[in-house]
Amino acid sequence: MKNAVEVIQREQLKEKPTESLGFGQHFTDYMFVMDYSVDKGWHNAVIQPYQNIEISPSAQVLHYGQAVFEGMKAYRQGESIVLFRPEENFKRMNRSNARLNIPEVDGECLLEALKQLVALEKDWIPEGEGESLYIRPFVIATEPHLGVHAALEYKFMIILSPVGAYYGDEQLMPTRIYVEDEYVRAVRGGVGFAKAAGNYAASLAAQTRASELGYQQVLWLDGVEQRYIEEVGSMNIFFVIDGKVVTPELNGSILPGITRKSIIQLAEHLGYEVEERRISIEEVLDSEHISEIFGTGTAAVLSPVGFIKYKEREIKISGGQTGSITQHLYDQYTGIQAGTIPDPFGWRVEV
Ligand code: COI
Repeated sequence: MKNAVEVIQREQLKEKPTESLGFGQHFTDYMFVMDYSVDKGWHNAVIQPYQNIEISPSAQVLHYGQAVFEGMKAYRQGESIVLFRPEENFKRMNRSNARLNIPEVDGECLLEALKQLVALEKDWIPEGEGESLYIRPFVIATEPHLGVHAALEYKFMIILSPVGAYYGDEQLMPTRIYVEDEYVRAVRGGVGFAKAAGNYAASLAAQTRASELGYQQVLWLDGVEQRYIEEVGSMNIFFVIDGKVVTPELNGSILPGITRKSIIQLAEHLGYEVEERRISIEEVLDSEHISEIFGTGTAAVLSPVGFIKYKEREIKISGGQTGSITQHLYDQYTGIQAGTIPDPFGWRVEV
């Protein structure tokens, strides 16, 4: 894939959405696709019209869940198009791939292909407040075979979706979070650190229960003692404790979020003390020192938590409002992403 990827043109472009975008509901005109076979390695790279794909009913992904995905975003200001830390996503995809026994992808070549795709789709990048083009690279095992082994054939794709806020209609709406005390998301030595599709499938029963009880997200506890805070599934989680920014340390079962890593760097740069350590649910419920809680993720950006429910108790954080440190980090972070604040870290990658 040294040269530009071949583009198969579509006959007619789709209508762009005119109503509020929501998250992950609209898809652009084109997608990137490539295949893997043992003989040829990754091959057949092409940008083609967004359309259904054909795989065998015996494709291994449908039976044994060999699937990994990523999430990143592109922003546009006039003619300037920017990706945010895309190389981190391809590195993480390869760590996930290694764990799920999926062949490695070439991050450098894929970044070039992604730039080509995003440039082609630049008119789909929304420019409204809190809006961006969400980029979803993913890989699935397509070998038609029911024996349980690492598949010999795969498909890697990138699809694009213009998005607004992940929760509700606007960014920074404090969310209501339900602490799951029966199921666990991941265990040490498992696939919790990988962006494996199955991690999300495993979260859905608890997510449905949380929604029925009026909560938007599930906060997961560790898989051994069900005592220590792990993550929210669609976000990593941060606490402001005595003015310090504190987040659970990575332990193999927590997803190493790129937004998480960026917020740690940004908070330190802004002069906050940052701690990565274990945080128990008792500390969260009983501490008078926690003034703010927020989640971080590519889709969710920075999302304040207003309420936490654990068993019979519900606590209110920051009076159910967005706290001042959350707001400060959000403004600085989204300002760097949008290019309205200088980027001292070199996170923005021009397309
Ligand atoms: C992301 O933030 O990009 C995610 O992958 C989280 C979610 C939408 C599954």
